[in-house]
Amino acid sequence: MSTPKIFLLLLVCGLFVACGQDGPPPPPAMAPLSDMPLIPLPVEMADAEGALFIDLDAPSEWSEETIDARALAYLRENLPATGFPLTTEIDASLELPAGSYLLNVRPDGVSISAADADGVLNGAITLEQVMAFAGDSERGIFLPCGTITDMPRFAYRGFMLDVARHFMGMDTLKATIDRIARYKVNFLHLHLTDDQGWRIEIKSWPKLTEVGGLTEVDGTPGGFYTQEEYREIIDYAAARGMTVVPEVDMPGHTNAAIVAYPELNGTDKPAKPHFGTEVGFSTFNTDSDLTYQFIDDVVREIAEMTPGPYFHIGGDESHVTDHEDYVRFINEVQQIVERHNKQNVGWDEVASSNLANGTVVQLWAHPEYALRAKQNGNQVLMSPANRTYLDMQYDSTSRIGLHWAAYIEVDSAYLWDPAAIAEGVEDADILGVEAPLWSETVRSLEDIDYLVFPRLPALAEVAWTPQRQREWEDFKRRLAAHQEWLKSMGIGTYDTRVLK
Ligand code: ACM
Repeated sequence: MSTPKIFLLLLVCGLFVACGQDGPPPPPAMAPLSDMPLIPLPVEMADAEGALFIDLDAPSEWSEETIDARALAYLRENLPATGFPLTTEIDASLELPAGSYLLNVRPDGVSISAADADGVLNGAITLEQVMAFAGDSERGIFLPCGTITDMPRFAYRGFMLDVARHFMGMDTLKATIDRIARYKVNFLHLHLTDDQGWRIEIKSWPKLTEVGGLTEVDGTPGGFYTQEEYREIIDYAAARGMTVVPEVDMPGHTNAAIVAYPELNGTDKPAKPHFGTEVGFSTFNTDSDLTYQFIDDVVREIAEMTPGPYFHIGGDESHVTDHEDYVRFINEVQQIVERHNKQNVGWDEVASSNLANGTVVQLWAHPEYALRAKQNGNQVLMSPANRTYLDMQYDSTSRIGLHWAAYIEVDSAYLWDPAAIAEGVEDADILGVEAPLWSETVRSLEDIDYLVFPRLPALAEVAWTPQRQREWEDFKRRLAAHQEWLKSMGIGTYDTRVLK
């Protein structure tokens, strides 16, 4: 062997030994990217050779110069290690639906590209799951290489929290937002008012919270959000990819407002605080100018604080409002909301009025109203109670929850198609899917965890992944991994019998 050759051989051996000591350890036997238990299931996953080693102790070199600021903050808060190269790019020329992304894992780093900032954040949320489920060794985490190309089936993937029946404080609300962000939920609907309590400060009508904020189901002390707190929630949710949709339910479900201001009462019975769970006994006076002045003030104050496009006007279960009065009322309120530059959302009964152009009809019980909405050119938000209501019990042994719509085990939450709920209402007519959590029996974060998990991951996949790609046995495989992950984060997910 000539001297140069020996020299080269020694050099290569030296490099090899150096790699063995200081470089990445050899990757363990590892599942490919396409087998990772991701929820919601991405549209496309292509595997590539090799792995990216992430040293748990390597310092992060990330900065806002190469990573979108919101994704950077999200990942810093949620990843176990950030010592690897990451770049994100927003390329508006990518012709993909809002929220779509491409995630590329190579031996030398990770990149996320998207047409918008929501897409970058969705890619970051997928990266969080990829890291959570990747193989690890004592020194670090190995990510299998490959590319994920992903886009949502529906633009609106929502969760609703009823903070009226039982008030949920700021810490509980923020913890809930943290939990659901991991499943690419992008709308947080807050049911802010109901018969039992009023939860949002309105400066021009202060007794709403001074009186209406004090009560809740069972007679325990209620509570309310100040306007500063409401703004804080909006920012907190936005940092995790969620737009807040405020709801003021009317003309029924208004007892708490009427206790505070009896002049709004449309019944001849004097209102008194309501601690029970019955519905359908209250109504605003739909004939009075004062009522519309009140609504204008409430909508104005809330709309001014709310950057998102939607204002939810409720409209459900107005059993003591004369139908003609109901129709006139909903027509008028839709116009008030539009004057404050918001798009209306209403529970499906609002389709019995004259729908304004942009009004979104949220199906919960009446498929015929969803069809009417479609025929009128309005979009439908799918929340069929027997599939999506997270306050329904899993089965008769569930420690909390109701069952008037159904018992909903995880298979029932997963095995349905939003385009098969109301005949004639198809994907193009559907804005999205929302999972509501009503709080008659829900008092704490522990209660929220028990009812929301693991059904929310199932419903998040219903809203995100194309119907033809969803498969129950494969979902169960992935869900088993998520149950462990959720528990490892201290989330009290329900031990569902579908995995036993
Ligand atoms: C509803 O469950 N009353 C919308």
